[in-house]
Parts: sequence; C-alpha cells; structure tokens
Amino acid sequence: MQSILITGGAGFIGQNLVHAWRMAHPADRLVVVDAMTYAANVRSLQSLIADKSILFAKGDIRDAALMRRLFEEHRFTRVAHLAAESHVDRSIADPEAFLQTNVLGTFSLLKAALDSWRSNDALDRARFLHVSTDEVYGSLASGDPAFSESSPYRPNSPYAASKAASDHLVRSFVATYGLPALITNCSNNYGPYQHPEKLIPLMIIHALEGKPLPIYGDGSNIRDWLHVSDHCEALMSVIEKGRVGETYNIGGGNERNNRDVVGRICDTLDSAFAADPRLAARFPSCPAAAAGHSCRSLIRYVTDRPGHDHRYAIDATKLADELGHRCDVDFESGLSQTVRWYLDQEDWWREVTSGAYRDWIDKNYGSRTAVNAI
Ligand code: NAD
Ligand code: DAU
Repeated sequence: MQSILITGGAGFIGQNLVHAWRMAHPADRLVVVDAMTYAANVRSLQSLIADKSILFAKGDIRDAALMRRLFEEHRFTRVAHLAAESHVDRSIADPEAFLQTNVLGTFSLLKAALDSWRSNDALDRARFLHVSTDEVYGSLASGDPAFSESSPYRPNSPYAASKAASDHLVRSFVATYGLPALITNCSNNYGPYQHPEKLIPLMIIHALEGKPLPIYGDGSNIRDWLHVSDHCEALMSVIEKGRVGETYNIGGGNERNNRDVVGRICDTLDSAFAADPRLAARFPSCPAAAAGHSCRSLIRYVTDRPGHDHRYAIDATKLADELGHRCDVDFESGLSQTVRWYLDQEDWWREVTSGAYRDWIDKNYGSRTAVNAI
C-alpha cells in the first residue's frame, strides 16, 4: 500500500489519473492538492471525496508550509506532479503565472518531498513523477525523426520554457540530492474533462453552438494525439516500473494536422445529428441541425499563434522496450468517443464555459483576423 499525492488532480489529466489510480490501487491513500484555478473542476471527484475514497486539499503548490504539512501528515511514498498552468495561448498573453506555478511551484514541491523523504529515510522507496510535455523539445519539420528522450531542449513558448525549466530542476534534484524522481514528456492529450480552451473540446462546443471554428494559420500544424486513458496507464507504469532519474516519452502514435482533426470533428457531429434527430432540438444553432448542412461551414482560418510549433511527434520506443507499455487507443475511435462524451455532458461544459471563460475567448480570438482558407 502506498500513500500518493496527486497535484493538479482537479485538472483534465489529473481527474482522469485520480479515477485510474483509484481503480488500479484501491487500498492506497490518495490525496489530491489543487489550487482550483479556472482550469479545475471537482465535479467528477465529488463522490470520491464524499465517501472518503480520496482526500482533497485546496491549496497552492507554491505554499511551502502547506506542502510540508501534507507530507508530514500523509507520509507520501508516491508523488504524481501534474499541477501546472498548461495553455500555450494563455502563456503568450500572460506568462507570469507560468513561471510562478510551473517553476517555483515545482521547486517548492521538490523541496517538500526531499525534506520529508530524507527525514523519514524514505529516499530508497519513494518516487516522484514529474509530468511534462513534448513541447520542451521545440518544433519538428515534416520529415524529421520523432522526439526521443535525447532530443535537445528547444522550447518556443513561455509555457514550454517554464516546463523545460521545471524538468531541469527535477533533474538537478536527482543528480545533486538523490531525489528518486522520474520525468515523462508526453504529446497532446484528448478525452473526457478537457477544458474547452484546448483545440478538440473548443471545436466540438463551438460547432454545437453554431460559432466559428478558428483554425490558426493554414491548419497544417501537426500534433501526436494521445488519449488521456492511455496516458494515465503509462504514467502508472512509469511511476512503478521506471528507472529513477530517467525520462520516458509518451506518445499516441497518431500524428494528424489541425485541418484534419477539425474536419473529422465536423464529420462526426454531422453523422451524430443525422442518426439522432433529438440532437437538433438540443442544439438548434449547430449547422448539422438542418438537413443537408455541415459543421464544416463554420471553419475559419485565423491569425496564427506567435511562435506556433509546426509539428510534434513522439518516439515511445523506450517506454515500450523497458516497461513493455504501448499506447494503443486509435485516434478515430478515441475522437468519436470524445465527441460523444461532450454531447452527453452538456451540463459540465456549460458550467465550465460560463463567466470568466467568455472573457478569455474575447481576449484570445477577438483580435484575430480571418486569413485565406487553404
Ligand atoms: P490543466 O490545466 O487541465 O490542469 C492543471 C491543474 O493544475 C488545474 O486543476 C489547476 O487548478 C492546477 N493548478 C494550477 N496552478 C496550481 C498551483 N499553483 N497549485 C496547485 N494546483 C495548481 O492541465 P492538464 O492538461 O491536466 O495537464 C496536466 C499536466 O500535464 C501539466 O503539467 C501539463 O504541463 C502536462 N501536459 C499536458 C498535456 C495535455 O495535452 N493536456 C500534454 C503534455 C503535458
Ligand atoms: O504537446 C503537449 C501540449 O499539448 C501540452 O503540453 C499543453 O499543455 C497542451 O495544451 C497542448 O498544447 P497545444 O498548444 O498543442 O494544444 P492546443 O489544444 O492549444 O492546440 C493544438 C493545436 O491546435 C495547435 O497547433 C494550435 C491549434 N489551435 C488551437 C486552438 C485553441 C487552433 O488552430 N485553434 C485554436 O483555437
């Protein structure tokens, strides 16, 4: 039995990991700490909190005294560190919070773990998993080989730079103090509970509401899509079986450009509306609500993201060879399930997209002008 701390457990991947961990390790003590920023939502965790299957602490990872108290009280032997500011566009608009949480927050957590594990003689049995991103490696050209664990760090956005800095801090704590830490760098996740500021949920929800689908630049940018359930399984494998001090890349093996992803979302919605006439009554503003019309009519090419990375792709050979782990959710079926999830969870996304979210949409998209479609 372990005592595990999951930071950022009310975020997208965090919520999915909490459920996956609870299922896989029912006897473990599981504590979630989350500052409950705009990106957090505990709706899916309510029943686990209510029946005390997990303990939830609202708090900031930069709060050193709180982190120390949590380690003293719960004697964690596992840490899965996911808390972060995670949206590239927000890091371009306002980078400060990214340095605060991703760099200083990670430092505070590393320090609390080291102090606790030193004083409890737990350095030989504890494990700290730092969840990072493929964006630290920068951008690939079309024919380049995929990112491996030895690819050089070349971050291009303030978000990526802050994650790169946090990776370096983790590495330094391993080398200097012997902290038993591991790092994972993964590609773009998608699936249930993703905040609607990110590409896939944004496009699904905009289409349902009959709003423009804003594709940055010419839509040729490529991401390697990883279903969040595959990612969580890989994280649990790395934390238990990975070698301390090592980095493991996690990818979905599903490279797609943004034009194709948005087109497929439109086609999936068109088919869902054609198959179920009740959807037209629920979402009358969606073009697919009218016979013979397609969500594709909402696609708009808009001003590009500054410093927009062209392509990410992950070589996950090390994960497969060392740990025997393969991510295998195929993108087309994962995307269909995800579209279905957002169709079924209207209450969830209506709550998340009310209030301050609208201000963000105005700020990020208000000044983007239309560019020629390709
Ligand atoms: P998210 O933005 O959905 O969730 C982040 C969570 O961290 C939120 O619940 C937020 O409230 C919490 N948080 C933010 N600042 C905090 C602070 N100072 N103290 C405590 N909690 C704080 O992010 P996500 O998509 O779930 O990503 C989780 C992790 O995975 C991040 O570290 C991100 O960099 C990494 N990652 C994400 C993806 C992806 O595609 N989503 C891909 C690669 C890596
Ligand atoms: O690669 C891993 C990273 O993936 C994570 O580290 C980040 O936390 C996560 O947010 C994600 O970053 P991206 O910038 O790739 O994700 P995003 O969903 O913002 O954008 C995906 C692609 O879609 C990217 O090429 C930009 C484009 N895009 C995005 C939005 C929000 C659009 O064309 N229009 C949009 O409105």
